[in-house]
Amino acid sequence: MSVVNAYQKQYQQFLENPEQFWQEQANRIAWYKKPTNILSVDENEYFRWYTDGELNTSYLCLDYHVEQGRGEQAALIYDSPVTDTKATYTYRELRDQVALFAGGLKSLGVEKGDRVVIYMPMVPEAAIAMLACARLGAIHSVVFGGFAPDELAVRIDDAHPKVIVTASCGIEINRVIDYKPMVDEAFKIAEHKPRHVVLLQRPQSQADMQPGRDVDWQDLVSGATPAEPVPVKGTDPLYILYTSGTTGKPKGVVRDNGGHAVAMCYSMDVVYNVEPGDVYWAASDVGWVVGHSYIVYAPLLTGCTTILYEGKPVRTPDSGAFWRVCAEHGVKTMFTAPTAFRAVRKEDPEAENLKQYDLSKLERIYLAGERLDPPTYEWLKEKTKLPVIDHWWQTETAWAIAGNPIGLEPMPTKPGSATVPMPGYQVQILNEAGEPVSGGEKGNIAIKLPLPPGTLATIWGNHPRFEAGYLNTYPGYYLTGDEGYLDEENYLFVMGRCDDVINVAGHRLSTGQMEEIVGSHPAVAECAVIGISDSLKGQLPLGLVVLKDGASLRKDDLAAELKQMVRAKIGAVGCYDQSLIVQRLPKTRSGKILRRTMRQIADGESYNVPSTIDDPAILDEISQAMKTAGRPSA
Ligand code: COA
Ligand code: AMP
Repeated sequence: MSVVNAYQKQYQQFLENPEQFWQEQANRIAWYKKPTNILSVDENEYFRWYTDGELNTSYLCLDYHVEQGRGEQAALIYDSPVTDTKATYTYRELRDQVALFAGGLKSLGVEKGDRVVIYMPMVPEAAIAMLACARLGAIHSVVFGGFAPDELAVRIDDAHPKVIVTASCGIEINRVIDYKPMVDEAFKIAEHKPRHVVLLQRPQSQADMQPGRDVDWQDLVSGATPAEPVPVKGTDPLYILYTSGTTGKPKGVVRDNGGHAVAMCYSMDVVYNVEPGDVYWAASDVGWVVGHSYIVYAPLLTGCTTILYEGKPVRTPDSGAFWRVCAEHGVKTMFTAPTAFRAVRKEDPEAENLKQYDLSKLERIYLAGERLDPPTYEWLKEKTKLPVIDHWWQTETAWAIAGNPIGLEPMPTKPGSATVPMPGYQVQILNEAGEPVSGGEKGNIAIKLPLPPGTLATIWGNHPRFEAGYLNTYPGYYLTGDEGYLDEENYLFVMGRCDDVINVAGHRLSTGQMEEIVGSHPAVAECAVIGISDSLKGQLPLGLVVLKDGASLRKDDLAAELKQMVRAKIGAVGCYDQSLIVQRLPKTRSGKILRRTMRQIADGESYNVPSTIDDPAILDEISQAMKTAGRPSA
């Protein structure tokens, strides 16, 4: 007789009555007005949660905890090895600073529904700006600091912000990066011109101010009146977060307030098993979804202490940095991308640095953002003697689609698997025809609609793109873009993307976008950019380039020029460093470039010659060119 565990029981409750399930979860947060309409369908005929509820996310993250007697508890600890700074903000202090900054934004004309772009390094003011927007019911859009002015401009033109909040600089390993010139450049490129730039001057670099447009952060808050939280509807947007799709134009994932708050609290319980007062650390960046969900919102909604870390896993100052932060601040749960631990392992294979620190408070390490390769998993488990938990999700979902339900009942882990679908998600593996495949068979990972609270409501300003990209392929399902399989125990194994998205050091990037840039080089006739495996960053882009007739350029010069072009347009974070000149690209008879086959060749994987290929001989040429270039590396 099979025993039903707590996870199966809860999953079953969700399946039997999703609305009741999510109503019960919603009852756990302090709405101004509790929703009665739990699940409905909007004007786009898409599912929405908690339409008639009223709340304020900033209130729930801050004021609520002060009211509950947590005012003097640490809400946020800023730990910055790159500036040698540490600072603690209690819930009361954070609330006061957020209220003041919100008052400042209000004085610049920011109101409910207005957009504010936040382009900042990992400083507390980034979180303060996010929470201040939420307090006013304004919609923030945080842009990762590693993106170039063009990328910032694209987001400005899509979101039409009233204000941009930025800082004079960010600090990378041994290098100060001036942000303000990039903002000024983005202003020039963008057609939409925001009214104001709010600038945080940092001691490491002072930025020039443009009179009338630019406002100093300190001046703004010193004259501000604290703003009270503005009630918003459950379905009013909290933020837009742009993410890479298959084309050059990023997609603005829209997250609403109500579903997000409920899902964040639920995930802190079930996935991470943390409680108010626990110290929770997500080592990521506020520019990514991990930063939104698990540096800022979920820990604060739960009443935890969150850590905002401005540094790297290595070289700030050494590969013991993560262990130091965990020991010094008594971290209970930490979360990062596997790349970070690959970097630590590379520099300290025996984890000697670990021995200096008391990690007795650390209970679990969570990893996501890219595939957790079994060697990194085994190394981390062996060296720390702690449970290492893989979980799989996306910018679109904001929280785990599949994970280990630690808060309900820990399940045995299987290397290579993110464990099981979380309650709320009905995961199905579909073949190309949209039919469910049998257990163990690989296919497209899809999620039966409706998606749970917290997941995206639409693509900003472009619902047809949301439908075309996610919903139309398999009616009734959301297409994740990943492929994988479910085994006989319903464990999910995610194999990788089946589209043009790659994952470089846990950063999601579009090869389609890189192709547009590489293809614009005057000597390039056509090109394909693929993601090839890399032992540190998981994947790296490789450009396969066909030159125009008569183009005479040394291959090193071309590679350097292409590298510079991608760096200038996307940013250093694109890590585009390798180009390979080939005579032809392999295509199907209908002209589709066989990117996947080329990736398999580059990674030394076995591959089937597609039956639709136009000229199979080209694969041998590509294989030869890659061998000459040292791919796959031994
Ligand atoms: N602002 C400006 N530039 C940035 C930046 C930022 N916020 N983040 C990265 N960059 C730059 C880096 O300085 C680097 O520039 P360079 O080519 O001139 O050296 C480039 O972008 C590539 O950055 P990255 O891929 O991060 O490489 P790295 O060598 O600096 O660091 C790791 C490698 C593994 C240490 C780092 O990628 C890391 O810590 N990864 C953890 C993963 C993570 O946090 N993912 C977030 C999602 S969960
Ligand atoms: P992002 O939207 O930046 O969070 O990237 C989401 C993508 O990262 C997913 O679609 C996957 O391709 C990949 N990803 C995230 N977490 C995992 C994981 N645990 N295992 C495998 N791939 C992952």
